[in-house]
Amino acid sequence: MPAPASNPASISIGELLTREHREIDAGIEAFVARARNGAEDATGNWVAPLLDAMTALRRHIYLEEAFLFPPIRAAGLMMPIMVMLREHGELWRAMDQLGEALESGTGDSCLRHNLVTRCGTMLELLEAHNSKEEPIIYSRADVDLSEAAHAELARFLRTGSTPPGWVCERAAG
Ligand SMILES: [Fe+2]
Ligand SMILES: [Fe+2]
Repeated sequence: MPAPASNPASISIGELLTREHREIDAGIEAFVARARNGAEDATGNWVAPLLDAMTALRRHIYLEEAFLFPPIRAAGLMMPIMVMLREHGELWRAMDQLGEALESGTGDSCLRHNLVTRCGTMLELLEAHNSKEEPIIYSRADVDLSEAAHAELARFLRTGSTPPGWVCERAAG
């Protein structure tokens, strides 16, 4: 039985973050399906779902590096956190490349094909990352975080956003 949302200290951080993984995957997959069909939304802004998913992924990476990883690393999981940070860097650069592709303005069908290919790569990177992060890192989230850190992360999950200009620790490789 899920805990009531009004009691942040009792919320399973691992469950909430796993849910974010699924939502981000679903957003990218929905964009790919739309792009393949040549569909447009009512405003004609067919890349909006992809931009929303990328905003959500950047926020997800921020909250992990700012709130989740430090206490888990301090508790002894140094090597797994190093791997997670390196993979965040790969994801970050893949998002930057997606942004560059969007700005290249090479015509719709060519752009759609390019974006669909890059989204496939992104989904593969996410699968490789999340399949390790969920069992190794998230399983520690409710154990290694203090009550205060737990509450702070739960609060950010509800209302927080990525600080302007923030980039992940390994964004440059
Ligand atoms: Fe991560
Ligand atoms: Fe994650």
